[in-house]
Amino acid sequence: MNSSTTQKIDIQKVESSRIGEVDFNNLIFGSTFSDHMFECDYKDGAWQNPTIKPYGPLTISPGAKVFHYGQAVFEGMKAYKDEKGKIWLFRPEQNFLRINKSSVRMAMPEFPREIFFEALTSLVKLDKDWVKPGLGNSLYIRPFVMGTQVGVGASPSTEYKFMILMSPAQAYYTGDVKVVIADHYSRSANGGVGAAKAAGNYGAQFFPTNLAREKGFQQVIWTDASNHQYLEEAGTMNVFFRVNDTLLTAPISDRILDGVTRKSVIALAKQDNITVEERPVLVSEIVEAAENGSLKEIFGAGTAAVISPVSAFSYKEKTYELDKQDDGFATRFKKELLDIQYNRSEDPFGWRY
Ligand code: COI
Repeated sequence: MNSSTTQKIDIQKVESSRIGEVDFNNLIFGSTFSDHMFECDYKDGAWQNPTIKPYGPLTISPGAKVFHYGQAVFEGMKAYKDEKGKIWLFRPEQNFLRINKSSVRMAMPEFPREIFFEALTSLVKLDKDWVKPGLGNSLYIRPFVMGTQVGVGASPSTEYKFMILMSPAQAYYTGDVKVVIADHYSRSANGGVGAAKAAGNYGAQFFPTNLAREKGFQQVIWTDASNHQYLEEAGTMNVFFRVNDTLLTAPISDRILDGVTRKSVIALAKQDNITVEERPVLVSEIVEAAENGSLKEIFGAGTAAVISPVSAFSYKEKTYELDKQDDGFATRFKKELLDIQYNRSEDPFGWRY
């Protein structure tokens, strides 16, 4: 099967749900999984045996390429329940396109659209009770692909596993986020894999982020690898700066993830007649804006965290505090986004699915 349009998903349901064991008021992000998962294997040049089965361990050879050369990409998306109990996804087409873009960059095969959407909708329907109503509650959906061919020869895997897991979620960050602007470590480089949602991009952030944590900061704002002059991303999110009433963010490039929340914020801002500049943003201009009072807000934008306001940043050992903006851009875009995601407002862009 190559286009796989006719491939039917084999559905094996759990005998009894684990949902009664879950404390939905005290979830740790990404650590509880719903009853079912999706699995599909790539072998002999084709995706085959799409299956939904009870969530559980896998048997994978320790010689599988993913363990040795990191051939793994993933996506992050969410399902939301509205007040009438109807479940919505947000711009899933974007995640579908991006996982394949990431796969291509990592020399991995693209996944067929029909199976991606059928798997998503079947899984969410099966585990619909895991999507709790109420603003802030969601089901975080994690599609991922890994190279499973056995062999430590340094070449692309000829076999892969595509999977989807689902995890009930509440807020990603609680409280203020303080960040350090990187002046030594980098997340990505020209010609590298920064634009791909490659697993290793995230693993490589843990060490510098730990160093920031030791100093009392939760995240790092990544700067360009050449000279650390330009601001690029914040932790696992895209980043926006509000200078006076203009919104600044780095342009998409092969170093920067084409974030779904990022592009949605830009669309909302433009709709609200806010000037948005997608251009290289100098560290020095943001430090200067912080010093002269024109820097009003910094916020991260991503699926997991939605919009995450930054309360302070540190650069070369100096810390700059930002005034709390209860009715600032971050609050406004977060509300506008959540209203669309939870079907509490019109959907002028056609983002709900
Ligand atoms: C997302 O927002 O989906 C992310 O990629 C964050 C994830 C690393 C937890």
